[in-house]
Amino acid sequence: MDSFLISQSPPLKGSVEISGAKNAVLPVMAAAMLSDGISQIGNVPQLKDMRTMADVLRVIGCRIKEDGSNLSIDSSGINHLEAPYELVKTMRASFYVLGPLTAKFGRCRVSLPGGCAWGPRPVDLHLKGLESLGAKITVTHGYVEAEIDGKLKGGNFIFPISSVGATANVLMAATLAEGTSILQNSSIEPEITALANYLADMGAKISGIGTRTLIVEGVKSLNAGKGATIADRIEAGTFLAAAAITRGKVRVTKMIPEHQTALLEAFMSMGCGVECGADYVELDASDRELSPVHITTLPYPGFPTDMQAQLMAVLATIKGTSSVRDTIYNDRFKHIAELERLGAEISLSGDTAIINGGTALTGAPVMASDLRASAALVLAGLVAGGKTEVSRIYHLDRGYENFEGKLARLGGNVERQISGQVQ
Ligand code: EPZ
Repeated sequence: MDSFLISQSPPLKGSVEISGAKNAVLPVMAAAMLSDGISQIGNVPQLKDMRTMADVLRVIGCRIKEDGSNLSIDSSGINHLEAPYELVKTMRASFYVLGPLTAKFGRCRVSLPGGCAWGPRPVDLHLKGLESLGAKITVTHGYVEAEIDGKLKGGNFIFPISSVGATANVLMAATLAEGTSILQNSSIEPEITALANYLADMGAKISGIGTRTLIVEGVKSLNAGKGATIADRIEAGTFLAAAAITRGKVRVTKMIPEHQTALLEAFMSMGCGVECGADYVELDASDRELSPVHITTLPYPGFPTDMQAQLMAVLATIKGTSSVRDTIYNDRFKHIAELERLGAEISLSGDTAIINGGTALTGAPVMASDLRASAALVLAGLVAGGKTEVSRIYHLDRGYENFEGKLARLGGNVERQISGQVQ
């Protein structure tokens, strides 16, 4: 298994380009199956999760072609309405095939995704949402079986809590239902808005895009889709955090600043300089004494849970008492023990971590446990004295394209150790 060998680095300087968003491209790849044509997706990031989703679609019978950052998905030959455990267990987003296959073919069998590093990840809202469209759902032997005689029927569903994945699955299913569906308390994450826009381009009739109430008038069929993947707001936030933790000055480009409001407010509260342009944000933390802040994660447009680990690493370097509360996943704190190995002083009480920041970090071997935790450990390694080895970096490869190369171009000393290679 690959690892990163990181040496203490100077303040990062320069500019970095952001790739397409993992969490936007995955549902759009599933949405392609709603049509019988060849859908095109642009600005696709080269990520392990994208390849896993492509493998799932191939098992189902799609033909997929990659041309650089362009993907084409031919769903005219779908012949196997099942997503197997071997693939779904490696990537929860494979579960996105449930809505499209049920809507298009009237039945499918999808493995339950199982848990992840930080605990259970239920799918009950996906299932209840599909049942509100008439699907008959049974769960046996670790698989969800969905079926409907004929087509799904338009229905009304109120998501009891904001769920990105469940909104995506039910929205995709509703596009081919007979009749109108009203989906309330839908997620408004940019990735959901991007999915809705892609579906509309395919001919879906959706109103309220970007709001918590989506009204979908089902249609008989959808055309092939086309569209470019929006920039990855979490990758962008991670590089802004890299600038902050190293007290550097970095311009993050090819991004969407308006997707980052809560995060930028946190950096400004710390005392970072933040300059926004049309498609860039420049964060300046050089020669600044940053101040502690208190973060609470919330559904969009609140502070994103996918940035709490990275911010915790930054807060560990800021003198004073900070806190990070995760209201989305109250057990997403596997990174605390590893950050403590680097000298961070963090205590956890329920869903809130209290960071006693300012102690100089020192390098040590640490282990990544999930995608965003691994990014946090890399950031901490950039400022820890001496060398830090982050193992199990395959977690990071799921969601960051050429992370070490982009950091190196900013002056970060990060080297990938290929497993099994003689050092
Ligand atoms: C998406 O996961 C993202 N993944 C996650 O990013 C992100 O952390 C999460 O949204 C929250 O923003 C992708 O987009 C591929 P949810 P998802 O359904 O859809 C509970 C990353 O690092 N819930 O919005 O699985 C759930 O337990 C990944 O890129 C139910 O109770 O998240 C959580 O507490 C990690 N029942 C809350 O809702 C359900 O049926 C929000 O989860 C579904 C969810």
